Amino acid sequence: MNIASRFSVLLGSLAIALSACSSNNPSTTSATGSPQARGEAAGTIAIGVGVAQTSNVALLGQEQVAGAKIAEKYFNDRGGINGTPIKLLFQDTGGDEAGAINAFQTLINRDKVVGIVGPTLSQQAFSADPIANNARVPVVGPSNTAKGIPEIGEFVSRVSAPVSVVAPNSVRAALKINPAIKRVAIFFAQNDAFSKSETEIFQQTVKDQKLEIVTVQKFQTTDTDFQTQATTALNLKPDLVIISGLAADGGNLVRQLRELGYKGLIIGGNGLNTSNLFPVCKALCDGVLIAQAYSPEHPGAINKAFREAYMSQYKKEPPQFSAQAFTGVQVFVDALRGLDSKQKVTQIPLPQLRVELNKQLLAGKYDTPLGEISFTPEGEIVQKDFYVAQIKMDPNGNNGKFVFLK
Ligand code: ALA
Repeated sequence: MNIASRFSVLLGSLAIALSACSSNNPSTTSATGSPQARGEAAGTIAIGVGVAQTSNVALLGQEQVAGAKIAEKYFNDRGGINGTPIKLLFQDTGGDEAGAINAFQTLINRDKVVGIVGPTLSQQAFSADPIANNARVPVVGPSNTAKGIPEIGEFVSRVSAPVSVVAPNSVRAALKINPAIKRVAIFFAQNDAFSKSETEIFQQTVKDQKLEIVTVQKFQTTDTDFQTQATTALNLKPDLVIISGLAADGGNLVRQLRELGYKGLIIGGNGLNTSNLFPVCKALCDGVLIAQAYSPEHPGAINKAFREAYMSQYKKEPPQFSAQAFTGVQVFVDALRGLDSKQKVTQIPLPQLRVELNKQLLAGKYDTPLGEISFTPEGEIVQKDFYVAQIKMDPNGNNGKFVFLK
C-alpha cells in the first residue's frame, strides 16, 4: 500500500472511531430512525456511491460517477422518493481492497446510507461486500462481473451481467468477421479476480468453438511492459488475441502487440470497455472488439433521457459503465418509492429500512437504460440484450468511438 492510501485508511479508521463516539452521544442518535440516525442531510435520503475516483481504476470509476450523478438529477427532477429528494454520498475507494473496505465502512457507519452502489472491481467487492452484508446494508454492484458476486451474501446484488453471459458474444463476433480464425492467444491479469473469472469463460468459449489455444500469458494489472509475453505469444502465430485485464494495462498490451507487428483481431474484455483506453493505445486501439451490456441505441424513454443528459454534458455517446451506474442508483430509487408508497421511508428506523429495502429491491422489475431488468432471488441480474462494439479510431489517434456491430 502506498503512503497516500495508508493515510486514507488511517483517516477512515479515525472517521469510524469518531462516528462510534458520536453514536454514544444521545443528542445525535435516535433509535426511531430520525434523519440524524439515517445520515440524511435535512430532508433527503442518503444513498452511498463507493467507486474508484482515483488510481488506474478511476479510468472506469470516473464513468460511474458521471452515470450516478445523472441519475441523481434525473430522479430528483421527477420528485425523488415521492417528494423527498435523494442525496448521493460519494466515497472514493481507490483501486484496491483496503480503499474499498474503508469507503464502505465510512458510508455505512458515518454517513448512514440506506444502501451502496459499488465498488468498481470484483477484486474489491470480494473484500468490501462482506462488510456491508454483515451490517445488513444492501449493495448493488454496478460493474462487478466476476463469477460469485451475488453469492457473497443476501444483501449483495448486481446490475452488471456476469462474464459468462457477456464475454462469449465477442468471440462469436470475431468469428463472424474472420471465419478463418484458428489459433488463439489468451492474456489475463492474474492479480485480478474479474480477469481470472473472465479468462475462464473466454477459454471455454474458444474450446467450444473448436479453436486452438496456442498460449495463455499472465500479467499484472500494474504492469506497463508486456514485451516478454507479447513476443512469446506472437512467435506462435495467433490469428486472434483475447485480453482480460483493466484499462491501463489492457491498453498498453494492445499497443505493444501492434507495435510488435500483430495484425489479427484483438478482443478486449469488460475491463477495457472504456474510451479512457483511447489515450493509452491511441490509433493502435483501432479494431479492438468488446462485448457490451448496454447500447446507447436501446429503445425506451428512460434510455433516451439518460443518453440526452449524458451527451449534452460529455459530447459523446454514454458508455456501459455510466449506464450501469445510473441503473444501480435507479434500482434503489424505484425500490425506495415502492416501499414509501406503503409506509413513509423517512419514518422507518435505519436498520429496518435497509433490510426492507433489500427485499423490495430484489423483488422488483425495472425499466432502465439497460432495458428491462430484474433479479434472481440470489441477486443476479436478469437482462435480455447484449451487443458487441468495435473501436474505431481517427488515423491521428486523438479521437475514437465504439461502433456497434449489427
Ligand atoms: N468488470 C470488472 C470487474 O468486475 C470491472 O472487476
